[in-house]
Amino acid sequence: MATFGDAPAGNPKNGEKIFKMKCAQCHVVEEGAGHRQGPNLHGLIGRTSGTCPGFSFSAANKNKAVEWSEETLYEYLLNPKKYIPGTKMIFPGLKKPQERADLIAFLKQNS
Ligand code: HEC
Repeated sequence: MATFGDAPAGNPKNGEKIFKMKCAQCHVVEEGAGHRQGPNLHGLIGRTSGTCPGFSFSAANKNKAVEWSEETLYEYLLNPKKYIPGTKMIFPGLKKPQERADLIAFLKQNS
């Protein structure tokens, strides 16, 4: 299992680059900027999975009912399909702990 407690320190500037390369085709983080193929991720940290207003989530994503935090995102982003079997997010995951830590630092800035 991936534990955020063992993660390297995250750099939000690098996280923004990773977001642009790997997430921005499906997600935006700006408040009120709407949804793409995936939900708007503004204010993600502290929100329960599958509750972003106006986005049609899969039952799997909603039923997971996990609170997004550094800890849960660190594990989810390693292997989204393993963490939420049946998710409609088509993304293989980020294997590098540093990339996940950077990305989470960036998402935190936008929460
Ligand atoms: C190919 C499109 C695509 C890519 C690339 C993608 N996502 Fe997603 N993402 C989705 C979709 C679609 C969902 C909704 C999943 C569902 O309802 O099952 C989602 C859901 C999520 C959720 C759950 C949101 C919630 O409120 O429960 C998070 C967190 C997330 N994505 C983060 C990311 C991050 C971070 C990246 C980049 C590393 C990324 N995604 C890359 C399409 C994508």
